[in-house]
Amino acid sequence: MMRHVGIVAESNVIAIEWKNNQLRLLDQRVLPGEVSWVEHHHVSQVVRSITDMVVRGAPAIGITAAYGVVLAARARFKESPTDWLRLIQLDIDALAASRPTAVNLFWALERLTAVCNCTEEGVDPEGVLLAEAFAIHESDLAANHAMGQLGAEVISAEGEAGTYVMTHCNAGALATAGYGTALGVIRSAHAQGLIEGVYADETRPWLQGARLTCWELQQDNVPVTLNVDGAAAQLMATGQIGWVIVGADRITANGDVANKIGTYGLAILAQYHGVKVMVVAPTTTIDMNLFDGEDIPIEEREASEVTRFAEFDVAPMGTAAINPVFDVTPSNLIDVIVTERGAVTAPFETGIAAIMNKDNLH
Ligand code: MRU
Repeated sequence: MMRHVGIVAESNVIAIEWKNNQLRLLDQRVLPGEVSWVEHHHVSQVVRSITDMVVRGAPAIGITAAYGVVLAARARFKESPTDWLRLIQLDIDALAASRPTAVNLFWALERLTAVCNCTEEGVDPEGVLLAEAFAIHESDLAANHAMGQLGAEVISAEGEAGTYVMTHCNAGALATAGYGTALGVIRSAHAQGLIEGVYADETRPWLQGARLTCWELQQDNVPVTLNVDGAAAQLMATGQIGWVIVGADRITANGDVANKIGTYGLAILAQYHGVKVMVVAPTTTIDMNLFDGEDIPIEEREASEVTRFAEFDVAPMGTAAINPVFDVTPSNLIDVIVTERGAVTAPFETGIAAIMNKDNLH
């Protein structure tokens, strides 16, 4: 296999757009069958779109919430130029309650709240808030490109660990400002000839792997093979897979990682089979307020996501089902966490503290 060190792949896939003073989101509920965009004029629509997963993926949720605050400010300032700062708190609270696990949401809301608090009384805040939302959007894209290159370097340094990688859920352009975290590394590694292809776990029950990762990688001609979640162990046993590469919704100070349900199991399988685990996430996903994963709030969604498949029942009426949509992988099952500020290996607590204290904080 030919290696092309340093080559960076591009991606045309985007999921979030600010256009004509409105927020446009690619509707991820209907992909891959339909490519359709939903326009948002009001913050209440933004809250609904995050909860209903029109948009999903930790960084994308944060960016979307930032634009949601811009829309909220527009309406609240019109309603009351003198009292908007108090009123907008209701909208920020609603955005904060839209989904609980991805810390990027709370990080983005804190940044926008700080800008709100600095705005002079009686001055329309929309312009400064929009500039902040753009900055968050652009810095996420830059972080993804940086992580893509760093992650590819890690794979390259490990040598011929395996020619295929496995990913779970969708941690791609669709889940970020563009390019992706885990899929960013995969794009870069593929462009550099370091990997031949990707196994995508289908990711029950919402099928982010089947519907989104396969679609996204096909757009950019990265070879992808879909497998049911239960096939992961068997595929690892064949010895073709060198890395499991996933994103994260929240990483705690000790390196524990909350990500899509099934990631924890995959990491255990990987350890058993000698497959390395790489977590790729920007520093906006690191929550230094939590020491370990025990305190990460884990979202539970409706049981019907498990008992039904589209409009069909896949379990008898009345079946009890439980649907936690994230799990926590302890850091001792992780080989490397790649951020835009560098790759961290064990001991994670020290490494994470070092990158979070770097001067170039956002
Ligand atoms: O429920 P989702 O689709 O929002 O879950 C997304 C994930 O678990 C991703 O792996 C994570 O947010 C990282 S996205 C770059």
